[in-house]
Amino acid sequence: MKRLENKVALITGAAGGIGAASAKRLIDEGASVVLSDINQQAGMQLAESLGEQAIFIQHDVSDKAQWQNVVEQGRKHFGQLNILINNAGICIYNGLLDYTEEEIHRLLNINLLSVILGSQVAAPVIAASSKSGAIINMSSAEGLSSVNGLSAYIASKWAIRGYTKAAAMELGPLGIRVNSIHPGGVDTPMANPTALAKKDFDQPYKKYPAQRGAQAKQIASVVAFLASEDASHCMGAEIAVDGGMTAGKYIDFLPGAPN
Ligand SMILES: NC(=O)c1ccc[n+]([C@@H]2O[C@H](COP(=O)([O-])OP(=O)(O)OC[C@H]3O[C@@H](n4cnc5c(N)ncnc54)[C@H](O)[C@@H]3O)[C@@H](O)[C@H]2O)c1
Repeated sequence: MKRLENKVALITGAAGGIGAASAKRLIDEGASVVLSDINQQAGMQLAESLGEQAIFIQHDVSDKAQWQNVVEQGRKHFGQLNILINNAGICIYNGLLDYTEEEIHRLLNINLLSVILGSQVAAPVIAASSKSGAIINMSSAEGLSSVNGLSAYIASKWAIRGYTKAAAMELGPLGIRVNSIHPGGVDTPMANPTALAKKDFDQPYKKYPAQRGAQAKQIASVVAFLASEDASHCMGAEIAVDGGMTAGKYIDFLPGAPN
């Protein structure tokens, strides 16, 4: 029996990148998947390519009425909802003094408000579907540490980490495990918008233990783990999938640095 047989998952931001890779992995593990994204064309194409175990519903994650629509339509189509993957997100680079109010609101609405609204709307439906559900929130290595040029994004990702723990406390008794994932640099349109070749994309990560960036499927495998009963005692956990980025950076003149 596959790990996610008879489970239904809703994945936001599923038209590309980590969301699309997670959809493929969950389907391989037996789940049915509601793909949601603001990008209708890419979402529809992906759903068609994945067959009967997938449907696409257009969804702006910063809008509560659209959350109610996607959760209700998804539940109606597959008969239940067991797993929510709050993955949709945007990244806007700017200096701390230069971020505009519009940029800050956009980042917080799409990255953070979405996670709160999604949990509020989906949790009762997940709890009514079975005794064991899961919510997985996509934070970032930048929800465990920080870097220049991303202060408002970082605020949203640290907040997701905290909200995950609060949600784990209140939803645990309803049978819903809530955990966060913290990827480092992943080769998707977000982190690699100009589609650099792999060796060039990997270059900035040479200073960290993995010495390369991640591929989306390396995050998707952890999504599948947390969605499954293999993670039955993981609640409010923050899982770094960052190739050691938050473990530390090599200092060349000290012993133990790679050649
Ligand atoms: N790529 C990385 O290096 C990296 C690292 C750490 C964390 N993350 C996080 O992982 C998640 C997925 O990132 P990705 O790299 O796959 O990015 P991506 O840009 O490839 O995919 C993001 C998806 O979200 C969708 N989206 C954007 N705004 C939306 C909205 N308002 N409503 C619904 N969907 C919307 C986009 O259309 C896109 O399909 C994000 O939350 C991101 O912050 C990514």
